[in-house]
Amino acid sequence: MSEEIEENRQTPFLEPPLDSEAVRPEPSDLFHNNPINFEVLQELEGVNILEATQFSFEQITELCKLAAILEKIEVWPYHPLDGKIAVTAFFEASTRTRISFESSVLRLGGKVISIADGTTTGQAKGESLSDIGEMFNAYADIVIMRHTETEAPDQILENLRIPLINAGNGSGEHPTQALADWYALLKWNPSLAVYPGTGGKNLHLGILGTPGSMRAVKSFLLMALQFSSHIKKVTIISEMADPFGEDVIGHLRNADIVYEVKNDIQETVADLDIIYMNSIAFLGDSYRSLGARYKLDANSPLREQAVILHPLARLDELDKSLDRTPHNLYFSQAHGAVFIRQALLLSVLGRLDTLPDLESIKP
Ligand code: CP
Repeated sequence: MSEEIEENRQTPFLEPPLDSEAVRPEPSDLFHNNPINFEVLQELEGVNILEATQFSFEQITELCKLAAILEKIEVWPYHPLDGKIAVTAFFEASTRTRISFESSVLRLGGKVISIADGTTTGQAKGESLSDIGEMFNAYADIVIMRHTETEAPDQILENLRIPLINAGNGSGEHPTQALADWYALLKWNPSLAVYPGTGGKNLHLGILGTPGSMRAVKSFLLMALQFSSHIKKVTIISEMADPFGEDVIGHLRNADIVYEVKNDIQETVADLDIIYMNSIAFLGDSYRSLGARYKLDANSPLREQAVILHPLARLDELDKSLDRTPHNLYFSQAHGAVFIRQALLLSVLGRLDTLPDLESIKP
């Protein structure tokens, strides 16, 4: 066995090795001297979570503050979701989203019914999602669903009367991924949680991918518009001349944000403060044909303070040589997803009032 494999076997997933320089921002800076506004979070009770634009700036930042407290406690001695059952209905493969949601529910004392593979449901026999939704009403208190079809949330909502969280719908949206993305960024730079920022528009955001057809990229970009008072420019790096699609371009045009499209990440990488990457293997044309123009590694000319986000799973676009560098915010992003999803579940399921006195949590 090689030394590297032996070392990886001894390293728990998402825990960087001791010599890693990967960014692990301290959560307390988000809530220190900054009490949570629970009234803002209560607005989410019973609400379907379908798209990034449904969140206000205040809802995002208050969710992040609650997540930071939950992350700081880490081992939660209370059971605020006691008596609640979540169905995780995944009709498309997932590593992070399903497991982190299930971990969130279980850590908060709730119970989970897990559908890891949609072919084990009646859908394999031709059952409609609207009929499946009617059944879920009787079995659970919330549904967290991923599906290959963009229309899937609309279909299940025909009969669903308990809240639905969209965990990714085809080329549509992935709103809780965007919450996890921005939670990582707010921990990295807590001044982003202040509106309007006092430092002015000082961040150059690069997004590698196609917002019009990649759901994580789309939701991340749409949520970024809430932070436009901090963003100098958004550069989309895509092989497509028009990577946006009608929906996204409409939001961009209405936002106070400067944006541009580039064809090659190497042209712009040295100027970026935040780089959001996504796998570009699923666009029809093979990723490999795109070559080095879309790839980053530890030798890329990144700014010293630049951080990289990636919703994962990655392919060749994000080289493992970056894992132990100070540019790696992507492991923190994946780790923090458990806590931001806890904050969201507590809000949607109306269990905020069962939390203990959070003011007593010391940074
Ligand atoms: N980030 C993300 O959606 O990962 P999974 O596909 O593994 O859930």
